[in-house]
Amino acid sequence: MSLVRIENITKRFGPLTVLDGVSTTVEPGEIIAVIGRSGSGKSTLLRCINGLEPIQGGRIWFEDQLVNDPATDLRRLRQQVGIVFQSYNLFPHLSVERNITLAPTVVKKMAAGDARGLALDVLKRVGLEDKIAAYPDQLSGGQQQRVAIARSLAMQPKMMLFDEITSALDPELIGEVLRVLEAMAKSGMTMMLVTHEMGFARNVASRIIFMHQGKIWEEGPTAKVLGSPATPELVSFLGSVLH
Ligand SMILES: Nc1ncnc2c1ncn2[C@@H]1O[C@H](COP(=O)(O)OP(=O)(O)OP(=O)(O)O)[C@@H](O)[C@H]1O
Ligand SMILES: [Mg+2]
Repeated sequence: MSLVRIENITKRFGPLTVLDGVSTTVEPGEIIAVIGRSGSGKSTLLRCINGLEPIQGGRIWFEDQLVNDPATDLRRLRQQVGIVFQSYNLFPHLSVERNITLAPTVVKKMAAGDARGLALDVLKRVGLEDKIAAYPDQLSGGQQQRVAIARSLAMQPKMMLFDEITSALDPELIGEVLRVLEAMAKSGMTMMLVTHEMGFARNVASRIIFMHQGKIWEEGPTAKVLGSPATPELVSFLGSVLH
């Protein structure tokens, strides 16, 4: 069964149609890179998947839950679908450990000792177990972003959404974050990520979704879509990002 099914969704902000008849599915274990020009609807698509944005038409399913049903427990859904943004949004007054254990202890009522073990475990996965007692302002941007990833992993999501998580980082810090994503991909995590890192997308993504003017303009296996783009819009986009 598909993890996510998106059926002909429409998303409007007032008079502006931002997603216009978008349909796709996400299968378990897929790594999908969402690419496209600024304003094409990439972030909005990700936000709709975990119910951060209401939609005006169509349906989004996560497993057997209809995301855009008012009766759906969005808090439970968001435990299953983690999202990490460009800005890390760590709590500055809390240690790395507390940033990570807050949701598991409060939302999932996990015992403190178990939560500490979990924090260590997810920090190991992002290579930062030695920073468990640090505060966010003692970490580099890349380290903060890796803690933000660890914090999401602590909820043991079935899928992760990443929205340009390296865009705010200094160039020398981007690689360490991409390596964490690569390791997560290898571990089998289902991921959908908006990225401008085309080299990363080419190497790690199993599928590309190219958004243009609120539509999925092209999608398919990475080598095929990037190697032989079918539309002038994608040719033009790829030309602009490679320069
Ligand atoms: N909260 C909002 N209210 C009104 N319009 C919005 C809102 N959020 C996004 N939009 C508009 O929706 C369109 C798509 O925005 P979105 O953020 O999804 O684009 P994007 O592809 O992620 O772009 P970028 O690469 O710049 O992040 C844009 O025209 C944007 O101005
Ligand atoms: Mg965006």
